[in-house]
Amino acid sequence: MSQSISFKTVANIQFASDSVLHLPDELSRLACKRPVIISDKGIVGLGLLDPVFEVLASNSIEYALYDETQADPPTQNVFDAVEQAKLFNADSVIGFGGGSSLDVAKLVACLAVAERDLDQMFGVDQVTGSRLPLIQVPTTAGTGSEATGVSIVTTGESTKAGIVSETLLADTILLDPKLTLGLPPMVTAATGIDAMVHAIEAFTSKRLKNSISDMLALKALSLMSRSIRTAVFDGANLAARSDMLLGAMFAGQAFANAPVGAVHALAYPLGGLFHIPHGLSNSLVLPHVLRFNGASADELYQQLGQVIDGVSDRQLDGRSASESLSIYFSELAKDLGLETRLSDLGIPESALPELATQSMLQERLLINNPRSVSYEQALDIYRQAY
Ligand SMILES: [Fe+2]
Repeated sequence: MSQSISFKTVANIQFASDSVLHLPDELSRLACKRPVIISDKGIVGLGLLDPVFEVLASNSIEYALYDETQADPPTQNVFDAVEQAKLFNADSVIGFGGGSSLDVAKLVACLAVAERDLDQMFGVDQVTGSRLPLIQVPTTAGTGSEATGVSIVTTGESTKAGIVSETLLADTILLDPKLTLGLPPMVTAATGIDAMVHAIEAFTSKRLKNSISDMLALKALSLMSRSIRTAVFDGANLAARSDMLLGAMFAGQAFANAPVGAVHALAYPLGGLFHIPHGLSNSLVLPHVLRFNGASADELYQQLGQVIDGVSDRQLDGRSASESLSIYFSELAKDLGLETRLSDLGIPESALPELATQSMLQERLLINNPRSVSYEQALDIYRQAY
């Protein structure tokens, strides 16, 4: 069968312990010497940036630091960081932290260089032209934001809006697993499952999946399934942290090209209405969406089951692949200490219809799902997850 492939990703990816110390070399390669670092107070408090400050200082590189990035970053974070970048006359941007800092860094790189209006950038492919050179350094293994051209910000009180453009793809990603050694177990668990969902949904994406995104999704799941338990229960294990960081980026590269579907569509309203963290929201609906999708995606789930450590034993007793995967992820969430039911989180049963209504608004995600989802079916999935 002939196929067409469209695949975009970051050109320069470096993975190594202490790769963060390569920042001066990367800046010089990009002909830059005045970076603005976009991060948050938590990262600064943990001392994760200390080696960066040292290596920049020892190379006589002046820098500015914006460390006010908030979770679900409001647009004001972007405006403040851009102002700081302009005042400092920054010639480059370093995103350093979780998905929020990396997302803000992408927009700062675009807005600090040209007279653009953020309001005109929302949506798909609305950003063209130049931006400041951009280096992304993730400190969590989950969002894969370092490898995507997507930035999600909060507009107004609580509305999330996305900017999707290949202009937002970084010039360089520095992956340093040592930066993730101190991630707390529950953050490791939830963000790890989010990353595994990126790989699953990319592999079963109805649109745009291709042999490159497939390879990345399979490798991502193989790495993360073998190491997620160790990373959660023995956080100082560098080999497990390496698997998770690399796996999360592979999954990010995959879903940046083969976009995610119903797990994310049903997870987003849990974040929007009840402030459940993104990874946990995904984990709560995942087993039920897998079972629902089985009718359309069982063969693909069969292929995923072959690379996920611990699924093949469950397939032996005649279960379908979707059922086996569903059981695997229910057990994984329980083993890792995550809540597994919406009722565990104080969500009232009366809220399920509103959740289903909200999930139907995630049209841009639902169109990627291997099986179409109606309002009644979404409500049924939330009921099973309750
Ligand atoms: Fe996600």
